[in-house]
Amino acid sequence: MTRVNHSRRQFLRGLLDMTGVAAAADMGLLAWSAPAMPDEGMARMAMPQLAAPNVPLVNPVTLARFVDPLPIPGIKKPDGQRTHPAYPGKSLPCYRMEMRAFSTALHRDLPPTRLWGYDGSFPGPTLEARRNEPLLVEWVNALPQKHFLPIDHNIHGAERSKPEVRTVAHVHGARAPAASDGYPEEWFAPGRSALYHYPNGQDAATLWYHDHAMGITRLNIYAGLLGAYLVRDEVEASLGLPTGECDLPLILCDRLIAKDGQLYYPVSDDPQAPWVSECHGNAILCNGKLYPFLEVEPRRYRLRLINAANTRYYTLSLSDGRPFQQIASDQGLLGAPVPRQRVELYPAERADVVVDFAGMDGKSIQLRQQSEAILEFRVRDRGRRDAGALPARLRDVERMAPASAVRDRVLTLGEQDDAGGNPMMMMLGGKHWSAPITEDPRQNSVETWSLVNLTGDVHPIHLHLVRFQVLGRRPFDLFEWNASKTLKYTGPAQPPPAHEMGWKDTVRADPGFVTRIIARFEGEPGRYVWHCHMLEHEDNEMMRPFQLLPA
Ligand code: C2O
Ligand code: CU
Ligand code: CU
Repeated sequence: MTRVNHSRRQFLRGLLDMTGVAAAADMGLLAWSAPAMPDEGMARMAMPQLAAPNVPLVNPVTLARFVDPLPIPGIKKPDGQRTHPAYPGKSLPCYRMEMRAFSTALHRDLPPTRLWGYDGSFPGPTLEARRNEPLLVEWVNALPQKHFLPIDHNIHGAERSKPEVRTVAHVHGARAPAASDGYPEEWFAPGRSALYHYPNGQDAATLWYHDHAMGITRLNIYAGLLGAYLVRDEVEASLGLPTGECDLPLILCDRLIAKDGQLYYPVSDDPQAPWVSECHGNAILCNGKLYPFLEVEPRRYRLRLINAANTRYYTLSLSDGRPFQQIASDQGLLGAPVPRQRVELYPAERADVVVDFAGMDGKSIQLRQQSEAILEFRVRDRGRRDAGALPARLRDVERMAPASAVRDRVLTLGEQDDAGGNPMMMMLGGKHWSAPITEDPRQNSVETWSLVNLTGDVHPIHLHLVRFQVLGRRPFDLFEWNASKTLKYTGPAQPPPAHEMGWKDTVRADPGFVTRIIARFEGEPGRYVWHCHMLEHEDNEMMRPFQLLPA
Protein backbone atom coordinates (compact mmCIF):
# COMPACT_ATOMS: atom_id res chain seq x y z
CA MET A 1 0.00 0.00 0.00
CA THR A 2 1.12 3.51 -0.70
CA ARG A 3 -0.89 4.93 2.13
CA VAL A 4 1.70 4.88 4.87
CA ASN A 5 2.47 8.53 4.45
CA HIS A 6 -0.92 9.82 5.36
CA SER A 7 -0.39 12.78 7.60
CA ARG A 8 -1.08 12.48 11.27
CA ARG A 9 -3.91 14.90 10.78
CA GLN A 10 -5.62 12.40 8.56
CA PHE A 11 -4.81 9.65 10.96
CA LEU A 12 -6.54 11.57 13.73
CA ARG A 13 -9.43 12.26 11.46
CA GLY A 14 -9.65 8.58 10.66
CA LEU A 15 -9.74 7.81 14.35
CA LEU A 16 -12.53 10.28 14.80
CA ASP A 17 -14.38 8.63 11.97
CA MET A 18 -14.06 5.25 13.56
CA THR A 19 -15.01 6.41 17.01
CA GLY A 20 -18.00 8.33 15.77
CA VAL A 21 -17.73 11.75 14.24
CA ALA A 22 -21.39 12.06 14.99
CA ALA A 23 -20.89 11.89 18.71
CA ALA A 24 -18.00 14.28 18.35
CA ALA A 25 -20.26 16.71 16.57
CA ASP A 26 -22.77 16.64 19.34
CA MET A 27 -20.11 17.33 21.89
CA GLY A 28 -19.01 20.29 19.84
CA LEU A 29 -15.84 18.46 18.94
CA LEU A 30 -16.26 19.22 15.31
CA ALA A 31 -15.15 22.67 16.23
CA TRP A 32 -11.97 20.79 16.95
CA SER A 33 -9.18 21.97 14.79
CA ALA A 34 -6.04 20.16 13.95
CA PRO A 35 -3.47 20.36 16.72
CA ALA A 36 -0.20 21.87 15.65
CA MET A 37 1.68 19.04 13.99
CA PRO A 38 5.24 18.38 14.92
CA ASP A 39 7.40 19.12 11.92
CA GLU A 40 7.31 15.96 9.88
CA GLY A 41 9.44 17.42 7.19
CA MET A 42 6.32 18.52 5.35
CA ALA A 43 5.52 22.08 4.45
CA ARG A 44 4.51 24.17 7.42
CA MET A 45 0.84 24.11 8.27
CA ALA A 46 -0.96 27.27 9.24
CA MET A 47 -4.48 25.98 9.35
CA PRO A 48 -7.14 28.54 10.02
CA GLN A 49 -8.79 27.58 13.27
CA LEU A 50 -12.36 26.38 13.01
CA ALA A 51 -14.88 28.43 14.91
CA ALA A 52 -17.37 26.61 17.13
CA PRO A 53 -20.65 26.24 15.24
CA ASN A 54 -23.05 29.02 16.22
CA VAL A 55 -25.96 26.58 16.08
CA PRO A 56 -26.44 23.17 17.72
CA LEU A 57 -25.76 20.34 15.29
CA VAL A 58 -27.70 17.16 14.86
CA ASN A 59 -26.10 14.03 16.20
CA PRO A 60 -26.83 11.61 13.37
CA VAL A 61 -26.35 8.50 15.53
CA THR A 62 -29.49 9.47 17.44
CA LEU A 63 -31.59 9.28 14.25
CA ALA A 64 -33.56 6.21 13.23
CA ARG A 65 -31.69 4.21 10.61
CA PHE A 66 -33.05 3.18 7.25
CA VAL A 67 -36.50 4.73 7.42
CA ASP A 68 -36.39 6.67 4.15
CA PRO A 69 -36.27 5.04 0.71
CA LEU A 70 -33.11 5.83 -1.26
CA PRO A 71 -34.01 8.53 -3.77
CA ILE A 72 -33.16 7.53 -7.32
CA PRO A 73 -32.71 10.72 -9.33
CA GLY A 74 -35.05 10.74 -12.33
CA ILE A 75 -33.64 10.48 -15.84
CA LYS A 76 -33.93 13.90 -17.41
CA LYS A 77 -36.10 14.10 -20.54
CA PRO A 78 -35.27 16.57 -23.29
CA ASP A 79 -37.38 19.71 -23.23
CA GLY A 80 -37.34 19.94 -27.00
CA GLN A 81 -35.10 20.04 -30.04
CA ARG A 82 -32.84 22.91 -30.90
CA THR A 83 -30.10 23.86 -33.32
CA HIS A 84 -26.61 24.91 -32.41
CA PRO A 85 -23.97 26.61 -34.58
CA ALA A 86 -21.49 23.82 -33.82
CA TYR A 87 -23.77 21.32 -35.62
CA PRO A 88 -25.00 22.99 -38.81
CA GLY A 89 -28.22 21.57 -40.19
CA LYS A 90 -28.81 19.36 -37.17
CA SER A 91 -31.51 19.46 -34.60
CA LEU A 92 -30.37 18.30 -31.18
CA PRO A 93 -32.16 17.30 -28.00
CA CYS A 94 -32.05 20.19 -25.55
CA TYR A 95 -32.34 19.84 -21.80
CA ARG A 96 -33.27 22.79 -19.68
CA MET A 97 -31.67 22.61 -16.24
CA GLU A 98 -32.97 25.21 -13.89
CA MET A 99 -31.09 25.83 -10.65
CA ARG A 100 -33.60 26.59 -7.94
CA ALA A 101 -33.89 26.95 -4.20
CA PHE A 102 -36.15 24.40 -2.54
CA SER A 103 -36.56 22.52 0.72
CA THR A 104 -36.68 18.86 1.52
CA ALA A 105 -36.11 16.67 4.57
CA LEU A 106 -32.76 14.88 4.53
CA HIS A 107 -34.23 12.35 6.94
CA ARG A 108 -37.77 11.48 8.07
CA ASP A 109 -37.18 12.93 11.54
CA LEU A 110 -35.47 16.16 10.50
CA PRO A 111 -37.15 19.44 9.60
CA PRO A 112 -36.91 20.35 5.89
CA THR A 113 -33.52 21.63 4.77
CA ARG A 114 -33.07 24.60 2.49
CA LEU A 115 -31.11 23.47 -0.57
CA TRP A 116 -30.19 24.56 -4.06
CA GLY A 117 -30.55 22.03 -6.81
CA TYR A 118 -30.69 21.53 -10.54
CA ASP A 119 -34.36 21.18 -11.46
CA GLY A 120 -35.03 21.82 -7.79
CA SER A 121 -33.64 18.50 -6.60
CA PHE A 122 -30.55 17.23 -4.82
CA PRO A 123 -29.01 15.40 -6.50
CA GLY A 124 -30.28 16.85 -9.74
CA PRO A 125 -31.85 14.59 -12.38
CA THR A 126 -29.55 12.18 -14.19
CA LEU A 127 -28.48 13.24 -17.67
CA GLU A 128 -28.07 10.30 -20.03
CA ALA A 129 -26.04 10.46 -23.19
CA ARG A 130 -25.01 8.03 -25.88
CA ARG A 131 -21.52 8.05 -27.30
CA ASN A 132 -21.17 10.43 -30.28
CA GLU A 133 -24.73 11.70 -29.91
CA PRO A 134 -24.39 15.37 -29.07
CA LEU A 135 -26.85 17.12 -26.82
CA LEU A 136 -27.52 20.63 -25.58
CA VAL A 137 -28.09 21.78 -22.04
CA GLU A 138 -29.42 25.16 -21.17
CA TRP A 139 -28.15 25.84 -17.67
CA VAL A 140 -30.48 28.35 -16.09
CA ASN A 141 -29.68 30.26 -12.91
CA ALA A 142 -33.02 30.78 -11.17
CA LEU A 143 -31.50 31.04 -7.70
CA PRO A 144 -32.10 33.84 -5.19
CA GLN A 145 -29.84 36.92 -5.21
CA LYS A 146 -28.37 36.13 -1.79
CA HIS A 147 -26.23 33.18 -0.82
CA PHE A 148 -27.13 31.28 2.32
CA LEU A 149 -23.64 29.99 3.01
CA PRO A 150 -20.65 32.03 4.24
CA ILE A 151 -18.74 33.58 1.33
CA ASP A 152 -15.14 34.58 1.95
CA HIS A 153 -14.70 37.77 -0.04
CA ASN A 154 -10.91 37.66 0.37
CA ILE A 155 -10.76 34.72 -1.97
CA HIS A 156 -9.76 35.46 -5.52
CA GLY A 157 -12.86 35.64 -7.67
CA ALA A 158 -15.29 36.07 -4.76
CA GLU A 159 -14.75 39.78 -4.14
CA ARG A 160 -17.54 41.97 -2.84
CA SER A 161 -17.79 43.64 -6.23
CA LYS A 162 -19.15 40.39 -7.71
CA PRO A 163 -22.73 39.22 -7.39
CA GLU A 164 -23.09 36.96 -4.35
CA VAL A 165 -24.81 34.24 -6.28
CA ARG A 166 -22.96 33.08 -9.36
CA THR A 167 -23.07 29.70 -11.07
CA VAL A 168 -21.45 27.92 -13.96
CA ALA A 169 -22.03 24.24 -14.63
CA HIS A 170 -19.30 21.77 -15.48
CA VAL A 171 -19.70 18.15 -16.54
CA HIS A 172 -16.88 16.43 -14.72
CA GLY A 173 -15.11 14.00 -17.01
CA ALA A 174 -16.72 15.24 -20.22
CA ARG A 175 -14.66 15.88 -23.31
CA ALA A 176 -16.48 19.15 -23.86
CA PRO A 177 -15.27 22.11 -25.92
CA ALA A 178 -13.80 24.98 -23.89
CA ALA A 179 -16.85 27.22 -24.35
CA SER A 180 -19.08 24.50 -22.87
CA ASP A 181 -16.73 23.28 -20.17
CA GLY A 182 -17.81 25.66 -17.45
CA TYR A 183 -14.72 27.82 -17.13
CA PRO A 184 -14.86 29.09 -13.52
CA GLU A 185 -14.78 32.75 -14.55
CA GLU A 186 -17.64 32.31 -17.00
CA TRP A 187 -20.22 32.35 -14.22
CA PHE A 188 -23.58 33.96 -14.53
CA ALA A 189 -25.88 35.58 -12.01
CA PRO A 190 -29.53 34.79 -11.22
CA GLY A 191 -31.82 35.49 -14.15
CA ARG A 192 -29.20 34.41 -16.68
CA SER A 193 -28.42 31.19 -18.47
CA ALA A 194 -25.87 29.54 -20.73
CA LEU A 195 -26.41 27.11 -23.60
CA TYR A 196 -23.73 24.41 -23.62
CA HIS A 197 -23.19 21.58 -26.05
CA TYR A 198 -21.75 18.18 -25.27
CA PRO A 199 -20.46 16.10 -28.21
CA ASN A 200 -20.19 12.93 -26.03
CA GLY A 201 -17.33 11.65 -28.18
CA GLN A 202 -16.00 9.42 -25.45
CA ASP A 203 -16.32 5.97 -23.92
CA ALA A 204 -19.23 5.00 -21.68
CA ALA A 205 -18.57 6.28 -18.18
CA THR A 206 -20.10 7.62 -15.01
CA LEU A 207 -19.60 11.37 -15.17
CA TRP A 208 -21.20 13.97 -12.95
CA TYR A 209 -22.14 17.58 -13.26
CA HIS A 210 -21.66 20.24 -10.65
CA ASP A 211 -21.17 23.92 -10.15
CA HIS A 212 -17.75 25.48 -10.77
CA ALA A 213 -18.13 29.21 -10.04
CA MET A 214 -14.88 30.93 -9.16
CA GLY A 215 -14.26 31.21 -5.42
CA ILE A 216 -17.59 29.74 -4.28
CA THR A 217 -17.66 26.28 -5.85
CA ARG A 218 -17.39 24.68 -2.39
CA LEU A 219 -20.50 26.55 -1.23
CA ASN A 220 -22.55 25.98 -4.36
CA ILE A 221 -21.87 22.25 -4.40
CA TYR A 222 -22.45 22.05 -0.63
CA ALA A 223 -25.81 23.77 -1.25
CA GLY A 224 -26.73 20.87 -3.54
CA LEU A 225 -25.72 21.78 -7.10
CA LEU A 226 -24.67 18.37 -8.41
CA GLY A 227 -25.99 15.36 -10.31
CA ALA A 228 -25.00 12.36 -12.43
CA TYR A 229 -24.25 12.37 -16.16
CA LEU A 230 -23.98 8.93 -17.73
CA VAL A 231 -22.43 8.19 -21.09
CA ARG A 232 -23.45 4.87 -22.62
CA ASP A 233 -22.00 3.04 -25.61
CA GLU A 234 -22.19 -0.16 -27.65
CA VAL A 235 -19.20 -1.84 -26.08
CA GLU A 236 -20.75 -1.59 -22.68
CA ALA A 237 -24.20 -2.58 -23.93
CA SER A 238 -22.79 -5.84 -25.33
CA LEU A 239 -21.52 -7.02 -21.94
CA GLY A 240 -24.81 -8.00 -20.34
CA LEU A 241 -24.28 -5.72 -17.36
CA PRO A 242 -27.24 -4.90 -15.12
CA THR A 243 -29.53 -2.31 -16.69
CA GLY A 244 -32.70 -0.36 -15.99
CA GLU A 245 -33.60 -0.14 -12.32
CA CYS A 246 -30.60 -2.38 -11.56
CA ASP A 247 -28.20 0.31 -12.76
CA LEU A 248 -28.16 3.32 -10.50
CA PRO A 249 -25.99 6.21 -9.40
CA LEU A 250 -25.08 6.32 -5.73
CA ILE A 251 -23.89 9.82 -5.03
CA LEU A 252 -22.20 10.21 -1.67
CA CYS A 253 -21.52 13.47 0.08
CA ASP A 254 -21.42 14.65 3.66
CA ARG A 255 -22.92 17.66 5.35
CA LEU A 256 -23.11 19.22 8.79
CA ILE A 257 -26.77 19.52 9.69
CA ALA A 258 -28.04 21.83 12.40
CA LYS A 259 -30.87 20.77 14.71
CA ASP A 260 -33.24 23.04 12.83
CA GLY A 261 -32.51 20.95 9.75
CA GLN A 262 -30.40 23.58 7.99
CA LEU A 263 -26.99 23.00 6.46
CA TYR A 264 -24.12 24.32 8.50
CA TYR A 265 -20.94 25.19 6.63
CA PRO A 266 -17.90 25.59 8.90
CA VAL A 267 -16.11 28.95 9.23
CA SER A 268 -12.81 29.98 10.70
CA ASP A 269 -12.61 31.93 13.94
CA ASP A 270 -11.75 35.07 11.95
CA PRO A 271 -15.01 36.68 10.78
CA GLN A 272 -13.06 38.66 8.19
CA ALA A 273 -11.67 35.50 6.62
CA PRO A 274 -14.19 32.67 7.08
CA TRP A 275 -12.54 30.25 4.63
CA VAL A 276 -11.51 26.91 6.12
CA SER A 277 -9.21 24.45 4.44
CA GLU A 278 -11.52 21.47 4.77
CA CYS A 279 -15.12 20.63 5.46
CA HIS A 280 -16.01 17.27 6.96
CA GLY A 281 -19.69 16.66 7.43
CA ASN A 282 -20.99 14.33 10.10
CA ALA A 283 -24.02 13.19 8.10
CA ILE A 284 -23.21 11.04 5.10
CA LEU A 285 -25.90 11.37 2.48
CA CYS A 286 -26.70 8.77 -0.18
CA ASN A 287 -28.42 10.45 -3.10
CA GLY A 288 -29.27 13.28 -0.74
CA LYS A 289 -30.75 11.21 2.13
CA LEU A 290 -29.36 10.30 5.48
CA TYR A 291 -29.41 6.55 6.23
CA PRO A 292 -31.82 5.49 3.47
CA PHE A 293 -32.76 1.96 2.44
CA LEU A 294 -33.19 0.40 -0.98
CA GLU A 295 -35.35 -2.60 -1.77
CA VAL A 296 -33.49 -4.80 -4.21
CA GLU A 297 -34.29 -8.09 -5.88
CA PRO A 298 -32.08 -11.17 -5.64
CA ARG A 299 -30.13 -10.26 -8.75
CA ARG A 300 -27.15 -8.23 -9.85
CA TYR A 301 -26.99 -4.45 -9.45
CA ARG A 302 -24.62 -1.94 -10.90
CA LEU A 303 -23.93 0.83 -8.41
CA ARG A 304 -22.22 3.89 -9.80
CA LEU A 305 -20.43 5.23 -6.75
CA ILE A 306 -19.63 8.93 -6.98
CA ASN A 307 -17.78 10.81 -4.28
CA ALA A 308 -19.32 14.29 -4.43
CA ALA A 309 -18.01 15.38 -1.02
CA ASN A 310 -16.20 18.65 -0.44
CA THR A 311 -13.25 17.07 1.37
CA ARG A 312 -13.94 13.64 2.76
CA TYR A 313 -12.76 10.41 1.24
CA TYR A 314 -14.87 7.32 1.68
CA THR A 315 -13.83 3.79 2.45
CA LEU A 316 -16.80 1.71 1.41
CA SER A 317 -17.54 -1.92 2.15
CA LEU A 318 -20.47 -4.31 2.50
CA SER A 319 -21.58 -5.50 5.93
CA ASP A 320 -21.50 -9.19 5.02
CA GLY A 321 -17.84 -8.92 4.14
CA ARG A 322 -18.14 -9.86 0.51
CA PRO A 323 -16.18 -7.93 -2.10
CA PHE A 324 -17.57 -5.50 -4.62
CA GLN A 325 -16.77 -6.35 -8.22
CA GLN A 326 -15.41 -3.08 -9.56
CA ILE A 327 -16.04 -2.82 -13.29
CA ALA A 328 -15.25 0.82 -14.02
CA SER A 329 -13.28 3.78 -12.74
CA ASP A 330 -13.68 7.51 -13.50
CA GLN A 331 -13.53 7.24 -17.27
CA GLY A 332 -15.27 3.96 -17.84
CA LEU A 333 -14.77 0.22 -17.92
CA LEU A 334 -11.68 -1.47 -16.55
CA GLY A 335 -10.00 -4.21 -18.57
CA ALA A 336 -11.53 -6.82 -16.26
CA PRO A 337 -13.61 -6.81 -13.07
CA VAL A 338 -11.58 -6.28 -9.91
CA PRO A 339 -12.88 -7.80 -6.67
CA ARG A 340 -12.48 -5.25 -3.87
CA GLN A 341 -13.20 -5.73 -0.21
CA ARG A 342 -13.08 -1.98 0.24
CA VAL A 343 -13.47 0.76 -2.27
CA GLU A 344 -11.71 3.94 -1.35
CA LEU A 345 -12.90 7.04 -3.18
CA TYR A 346 -11.38 10.49 -2.97
CA PRO A 347 -13.47 13.54 -3.84
CA ALA A 348 -14.71 13.40 -7.45
CA GLU A 349 -13.53 9.84 -8.04
CA ARG A 350 -16.01 7.24 -9.26
CA ALA A 351 -16.17 3.48 -9.13
CA ASP A 352 -18.86 1.39 -10.78
CA VAL A 353 -19.35 -1.81 -8.83
CA VAL A 354 -21.53 -4.85 -9.37
CA VAL A 355 -23.15 -6.46 -6.33
CA ASP A 356 -25.06 -9.72 -6.69
CA PHE A 357 -27.93 -10.15 -4.23
CA ALA A 358 -28.86 -13.62 -5.58
CA GLY A 359 -29.73 -16.12 -2.87
CA MET A 360 -30.16 -13.39 -0.27
CA ASP A 361 -33.93 -13.19 -0.30
CA GLY A 362 -35.30 -11.74 2.93
CA LYS A 363 -31.88 -10.59 4.07
CA SER A 364 -30.48 -7.11 4.56
CA ILE A 365 -27.00 -5.92 3.79
CA GLN A 366 -25.56 -2.54 4.63
CA LEU A 367 -23.20 -0.33 2.77
CA ARG A 368 -20.60 0.96 5.16
CA GLN A 369 -18.42 4.04 5.15
CA GLN A 370 -15.60 2.90 7.41
CA SER A 371 -17.49 1.21 10.25
CA GLU A 372 -20.71 3.17 9.88
CA ALA A 373 -23.67 1.67 8.02
CA ILE A 374 -24.99 4.41 5.72
CA LEU A 375 -27.39 2.59 3.42
CA GLU A 376 -29.37 -0.64 3.74
CA PHE A 377 -30.19 -3.00 0.90
CA ARG A 378 -33.27 -5.15 1.60
CA VAL A 379 -33.55 -8.14 -0.64
CA ARG A 380 -37.13 -8.99 -1.67
CA ASP A 381 -37.89 -11.65 -4.24
CA ARG A 382 -40.36 -10.49 -6.86
CA GLY A 383 -39.84 -13.52 -9.01
CA ARG A 384 -37.39 -11.93 -11.40
CA ARG A 385 -33.96 -13.33 -11.99
CA ASP A 386 -31.03 -12.42 -14.08
CA ALA A 387 -29.16 -15.23 -15.68
CA GLY A 388 -26.18 -13.13 -16.69
CA ALA A 389 -22.73 -13.35 -15.25
CA LEU A 390 -19.97 -10.82 -15.20
CA PRO A 391 -17.71 -11.27 -18.24
CA ALA A 392 -14.10 -12.04 -17.42
CA ARG A 393 -12.93 -9.32 -19.83
CA LEU A 394 -14.67 -5.97 -20.12
CA ARG A 395 -12.67 -4.07 -22.71
CA ASP A 396 -9.13 -3.52 -23.86
CA VAL A 397 -7.36 -0.78 -22.01
CA GLU A 398 -4.15 -0.21 -23.86
CA ARG A 399 -1.43 1.05 -21.58
CA MET A 400 0.13 4.31 -22.70
CA ALA A 401 3.89 4.25 -23.01
CA PRO A 402 5.78 7.01 -21.18
CA ALA A 403 8.16 7.05 -24.16
CA SER A 404 5.33 8.41 -26.32
CA ALA A 405 5.26 11.62 -24.25
CA VAL A 406 6.72 14.73 -25.83
CA ARG A 407 7.02 16.39 -22.48
CA ASP A 408 7.15 15.70 -18.75
CA ARG A 409 5.85 18.52 -16.59
CA VAL A 410 6.98 18.60 -12.98
CA LEU A 411 4.22 20.28 -11.02
CA THR A 412 4.27 20.84 -7.28
CA LEU A 413 1.31 20.69 -4.95
CA GLY A 414 2.20 23.15 -2.21
CA GLU A 415 0.87 25.23 0.61
CA GLN A 416 1.63 28.80 1.42
CA ASP A 417 0.86 31.33 4.13
CA ASP A 418 0.27 34.90 3.23
CA ALA A 419 2.74 37.48 4.52
CA GLY A 420 0.97 37.91 7.85
CA GLY A 421 0.93 34.16 8.45
CA ASN A 422 -2.78 34.27 7.74
CA PRO A 423 -4.87 31.50 6.21
CA MET A 424 -2.67 29.53 4.00
CA MET A 425 -3.60 28.85 0.47
CA MET A 426 -2.57 25.97 -1.65
CA MET A 427 -1.02 26.29 -5.01
CA LEU A 428 -0.16 24.26 -8.05
CA GLY A 429 3.27 24.63 -9.56
CA GLY A 430 3.87 27.41 -7.01
CA LYS A 431 1.52 29.67 -8.96
CA HIS A 432 -1.66 31.54 -8.30
CA TRP A 433 -4.74 31.09 -10.45
CA SER A 434 -4.19 34.48 -12.04
CA ALA A 435 -0.56 33.92 -13.07
CA PRO A 436 0.03 33.54 -16.81
CA ILE A 437 -0.72 30.12 -18.23
CA THR A 438 2.18 27.69 -17.96
CA GLU A 439 0.54 24.36 -18.88
CA ASP A 440 0.00 24.54 -22.62
CA PRO A 441 -0.07 21.09 -24.21
CA ARG A 442 -0.50 20.76 -27.92
CA GLN A 443 -3.65 19.12 -29.25
CA ASN A 444 -3.25 15.33 -29.64
CA SER A 445 0.19 15.30 -28.05
CA VAL A 446 1.03 12.98 -25.18
CA GLU A 447 2.44 14.39 -21.97
CA THR A 448 3.32 13.02 -18.58
CA TRP A 449 2.64 15.15 -15.54
CA SER A 450 4.62 14.50 -12.38
CA LEU A 451 2.66 15.76 -9.42
CA VAL A 452 5.09 16.46 -6.59
CA ASN A 453 3.16 16.59 -3.35
CA LEU A 454 5.02 18.85 -0.90
CA THR A 455 2.19 18.92 1.63
CA GLY A 456 1.18 16.58 4.42
CA ASP A 457 -2.15 15.75 2.82
CA VAL A 458 -3.54 13.75 -0.04
CA HIS A 459 -4.83 15.93 -2.86
CA PRO A 460 -7.15 14.45 -5.50
CA ILE A 461 -5.96 16.12 -8.70
CA HIS A 462 -8.35 16.49 -11.61
CA LEU A 463 -7.72 17.52 -15.22
CA HIS A 464 -10.60 18.76 -17.30
CA LEU A 465 -11.09 17.58 -20.89
CA VAL A 466 -8.77 14.58 -20.91
CA ARG A 467 -8.64 11.09 -19.56
CA PHE A 468 -5.34 9.83 -18.27
CA GLN A 469 -3.60 6.77 -16.93
CA VAL A 470 -1.74 6.52 -13.66
CA LEU A 471 1.87 5.50 -14.25
CA GLY A 472 2.84 5.18 -10.62
CA ARG A 473 3.74 6.82 -7.34
CA ARG A 474 7.31 7.26 -6.26
CA PRO A 475 8.63 8.44 -2.88
CA PHE A 476 11.01 11.40 -2.95
CA ASP A 477 13.20 13.32 -0.55
CA LEU A 478 11.39 16.46 0.53
CA PHE A 479 14.45 18.00 2.22
CA GLU A 480 16.39 17.63 -0.98
CA TRP A 481 13.57 19.26 -2.89
CA ASN A 482 13.36 22.16 -0.46
CA ALA A 483 17.10 22.63 -0.49
CA SER A 484 17.82 22.40 -4.20
CA LYS A 485 14.51 21.91 -6.04
CA THR A 486 15.74 18.62 -7.36
CA LEU A 487 13.85 15.37 -7.29
CA LYS A 488 15.72 12.71 -5.43
CA TYR A 489 13.75 9.51 -5.31
CA THR A 490 14.03 7.42 -2.19
CA GLY A 491 12.51 4.25 -3.55
CA PRO A 492 11.14 2.60 -6.65
CA ALA A 493 7.93 3.75 -8.30
CA GLN A 494 4.90 1.88 -7.06
CA PRO A 495 2.74 0.75 -9.96
CA PRO A 496 -0.97 1.50 -9.74
CA PRO A 497 -3.18 -1.25 -8.31
CA ALA A 498 -5.56 -3.09 -10.67
CA HIS A 499 -8.47 -0.73 -10.07
CA GLU A 500 -6.30 2.20 -11.16
CA MET A 501 -5.18 0.54 -14.38
CA GLY A 502 -8.11 1.93 -16.35
CA TRP A 503 -8.85 5.48 -17.49
CA LYS A 504 -9.04 8.17 -14.86
CA ASP A 505 -9.71 11.90 -14.65
CA THR A 506 -8.97 12.40 -10.95
CA VAL A 507 -6.00 10.92 -9.16
CA ARG A 508 -4.98 10.65 -5.55
CA ALA A 509 -1.63 12.40 -5.08
CA ASP A 510 -0.15 11.09 -1.84
CA PRO A 511 2.07 13.18 0.42
CA GLY A 512 5.75 12.41 0.03
CA PHE A 513 5.21 10.92 -3.41
CA VAL A 514 5.48 11.99 -7.00
CA THR A 515 2.33 10.79 -8.71
CA ARG A 516 2.87 10.42 -12.42
CA ILE A 517 0.10 10.43 -14.98
CA ILE A 518 0.05 10.24 -18.76
CA ALA A 519 -2.54 11.74 -21.10
CA ARG A 520 -3.14 12.37 -24.75
CA PHE A 521 -4.52 15.89 -25.01
CA GLU A 522 -7.38 15.26 -27.38
CA GLY A 523 -10.19 17.75 -27.70
CA GLU A 524 -10.90 21.23 -28.94
CA PRO A 525 -8.17 23.82 -28.46
CA GLY A 526 -8.98 26.39 -25.83
CA ARG A 527 -8.70 27.19 -22.17
CA TYR A 528 -9.52 24.58 -19.53
CA VAL A 529 -8.56 24.01 -15.92
CA TRP A 530 -6.86 21.49 -13.67
CA HIS A 531 -7.17 21.52 -9.92
CA CYS A 532 -7.35 19.78 -6.59
CA HIS A 533 -10.88 18.43 -6.11
CA MET A 534 -10.97 19.14 -2.41
CA LEU A 535 -13.35 22.00 -2.94
CA GLU A 536 -11.92 24.18 -0.20
CA HIS A 537 -8.52 23.92 -1.86
CA GLU A 538 -9.83 24.41 -5.37
CA ASP A 539 -11.59 27.60 -4.30
CA ASN A 540 -8.48 29.03 -2.71
CA GLU A 541 -5.87 28.96 -5.46
CA MET A 542 -5.35 25.22 -5.86
CA MET A 543 -6.56 25.51 -9.43
CA ARG A 544 -4.77 26.55 -12.60
CA PRO A 545 -5.87 27.17 -16.16
CA PHE A 546 -4.34 25.19 -18.98
CA GLN A 547 -4.34 26.03 -22.65
CA LEU A 548 -4.80 23.38 -25.28
CA LEU A 549 -2.85 24.68 -28.27
CA PRO A 550 -3.96 23.76 -31.79
CA ALA A 551 -2.02 20.85 -33.29
CU1 C2O B 1 -15.37 18.06 -10.88
CU2 C2O B 1 -13.18 21.06 -12.31
O1 C2O B 1 -14.29 19.57 -11.63
CU1 CU C 1 -14.00 18.27 -14.30
CU1 CU D 1 -5.96 19.79 -2.19
